[in-house]
Amino acid sequence: MPDLDTRTQIHDMVVAFYRAVVFDDVLEPVFDEIAEVDWPSHIPRLIDYWCRILLGDPSYAGAMYAAHRHLHERAPLQVEWFDRWHQLFVETVDAGWSGPQAEAAKAHAERSLASLSRRLVDGAWQLDGTRTGAGADA
Ligand code: HEM
Repeated sequence: MPDLDTRTQIHDMVVAFYRAVVFDDVLEPVFDEIAEVDWPSHIPRLIDYWCRILLGDPSYAGAMYAAHRHLHERAPLQVEWFDRWHQLFVETVDAGWSGPQAEAAKAHAERSLASLSRRLVDGAWQLDGTRTGAGADA
């Protein structure tokens, strides 16, 4: 299995992840109905984002936190969305990639989910499965 150590591998991972999102009954409406994501421009931004995280490539110049704060303002983030995003991401990476960069991608995703949870929903989602506060029963 390859590692996530080139732009081509990262491209393939991002496409596979968003294919899983599009077929997911929980997350598909978040992207298509709430955020009305323009997939042809979203996918390249995500590839740039992961190339920055994993390869140090400077091409991503977006505002990751602001995008999710904006989403949260339109529809409050649900604990279930965090769970599903995490599950699909780990499954996608594990199905196609292994090695230090694949591990780094999953660790980064988990830190980012925890950070979004802390900043936007008072830490209602936590990696260890603890559910507290706003949105915890959603
Ligand atoms: C609850 C989990 C998450 C949900 C439901 C979610 C959903 C979304 C949605 C709907 C957008 C599009 C926003 C827009 O274009 O208006 C977006 C953008 C984005 N997301 Fe997430 N996301 C989640 C977690 C994450 C995590 C953990 C990461 C990174 C590790 C991430 C990285 C990004 C990036 C880089 C963008 C693009 C921001 C930009 O426009 O520059 N997301 N997300």
